[in-house]
Amino acid sequence: MQNYLNNLKNQQLISDNLTLILNAIIKSGVEISTLLENAGIGNQNILGSAETENVQGETQKKLDVISNEIMQKNLLNLPCVAGIASEELDEPIINNNANLNGDSFFVLFDPLDGSSNIDINAPVGTIFSVLKNYKNNAKEISEQDFLQAGNQQVMAGYLMYSSSTQLVFTLQNPNFGVNAFTLNKKTGEFLINKANFQIPQDTKEFAINASNQRFWQPQIQEYFAELLQGTQGKRQKDFNMRWLAAMVADVHRVLSRGGVFLYPQDSKMQKKGLGGKLRLMYEANPMALLIKNAGGRAINGKENILDVTPEKLHQRIPVILGSKNEIDYIQEKFA
Ligand code: F6P
Ligand code: MN
Repeated sequence: MQNYLNNLKNQQLISDNLTLILNAIIKSGVEISTLLENAGIGNQNILGSAETENVQGETQKKLDVISNEIMQKNLLNLPCVAGIASEELDEPIINNNANLNGDSFFVLFDPLDGSSNIDINAPVGTIFSVLKNYKNNAKEISEQDFLQAGNQQVMAGYLMYSSSTQLVFTLQNPNFGVNAFTLNKKTGEFLINKANFQIPQDTKEFAINASNQRFWQPQIQEYFAELLQGTQGKRQKDFNMRWLAAMVADVHRVLSRGGVFLYPQDSKMQKKGLGGKLRLMYEANPMALLIKNAGGRAINGKENILDVTPEKLHQRIPVILGSKNEIDYIQEKFA
């Protein structure tokens, strides 16, 4: 990994500061992965609920809170990190130790995505998005400065804690592509295992939580009905379904072999005044950049997710992403 990053630096594809940030995220990922592996043994008592709620009113798991603390500690140690924002923090934290004279950045993250999977030893992950800070006085930085559209992300990615721990990341420059690295647990080194993901343009696989069907918008109802009709309907092919209940793992599958992942708006969430289930700034945006740089697309229905101007840090959004031709097909239904 370090040789790989040095090569990128020599080609001026990644700056020293972004490399420091990526290394702090990698360090956090190794710590979180070790915690997860050992969570069920010993007397650490770190499984289960923390009996607290995050700003979104969701009950936090102990490991959500601990993973957040690990990311927070490692990132705020870096002078090039102007501030952080997290699913588990109500407000962003501005870094008092930051040096804002050179390039500095905001790191936004979901420290433990898919946390309902923790207690059943199923895949979970850490999602991150990096944006530039344009202010050189810490006192002037506010939540507003974090509210940049996804196409301004300078780096995005995730760590997935599954049968192996993998890092997948991309940079703003689409020529960089999307690459995956696997943690060698003996040496603590990440080794490249998949260079340049290319999502097939067509697919026969979809992922959606169909228990919400009766609450979906008509466009999604119509699309889903066509998928289920398979060869007997207008799509003229049979589809397969997968749902891992962790966005990281479902997106990893889409990157690896194509497919379409949907978490559409539904009337239950609408009644609560929510724009969708998934969070724009630290779930939808980073995944949308990865998918785009691997040749796929990510939309909220009508629009590209990466073009959406955020209004709030914890804003939610419908997410429909994956194989390009399938996303084009769905988008037409919203036209
Ligand atoms: O972060 C939200 C999340 O856990 C995603 O990782 C996942 O895709 C989704 O929610 C699962 O939702 P549901 O519980 O409705 O299946
Ligand atoms: Mn999540």
